[in-house]
Amino acid sequence: MIEVSDLTVRFGGVTSLDSMSVAFEAGTCGLIGPNGAGKTTFFNVLSGFVRPASGTVRAFGDDLLSMVHFRRARWGVRRTFQTEQAIEGLSVFENVALAHEHARLAGRSRRADVLDAISFVGLDADPYGRVRALSAAQRRLVEVARAVVGRPRLVLLDEPAAGLPDEETVSLAEVIRQIPGRTGALTILVDHDMSLVSACCETTAVLDFGRLIASGPTADVLRDEHVIRAYLGTAEVL
Ligand SMILES: Nc1ncnc2c1ncn2[C@@H]1O[C@H](COP(=O)(O)OP(=O)(O)O)[C@@H](O)[C@H]1O
Ligand SMILES: [Mg+2]
Repeated sequence: MIEVSDLTVRFGGVTSLDSMSVAFEAGTCGLIGPNGAGKTTFFNVLSGFVRPASGTVRAFGDDLLSMVHFRRARWGVRRTFQTEQAIEGLSVFENVALAHEHARLAGRSRRADVLDAISFVGLDADPYGRVRALSAAQRRLVEVARAVVGRPRLVLLDEPAAGLPDEETVSLAEVIRQIPGRTGALTILVDHDMSLVSACCETTAVLDFGRLIASGPTADVLRDEHVIRAYLGTAEVL
């Protein structure tokens, strides 16, 4: 369980997260909100790229914010980025192996872990072929493989379906749904595709202008008038 208390992040005059308090219990949890709501900032805080002005984050009882960046990777924080991070000139295997290296999984078989992660995401490509030759959807799977390789405890997926055609999104949903069962990691999914969020997440939290405006069972949250208003400007549109 991830318990977030009173988390505030400021960049100059902008308050990107405003006293955010929420718990992500287990499984795959959704985090949604309009552009600029603070979703990526929240991931940046968890992964150690951004230091909050105040607040705490306890992850399975550990004080995440007191750990330096590289210790969080070893602890098991993994993420994907909104912009693609796979290294084109390296092979699929090498890209996933780099994430494994980062996590410093002593005593584990790196090769077996890496091949296992690649097979888990269902990447239909030669693991020793270069990422350059892959389609956009396949690269997205490489990034998910990087996030799940080895022994992750917290997997953060930042808009993994952005730009993917519907068909590819459906198979990505299948992979995301299986992450917690397969790896034991709590997974937080940020995406604008509500069918993906509904398919993967039993619970969902909603940010708007850095504030938490709703959280709970996904179906209830998506019906909440504050949420509809935040997305559409008016509750009457639906
Ligand atoms: N490094 C930064 N420097 C200044 N402002 C930032 C920085 N990161 C995010 N912000 C601002 O914080 C707000 C939230 O951004 P972000 O977390 O990227 O939103 P989301 O991912 O929900 O679209 C935006 O107003 C954005 O401009
Ligand atoms: Mg973002």
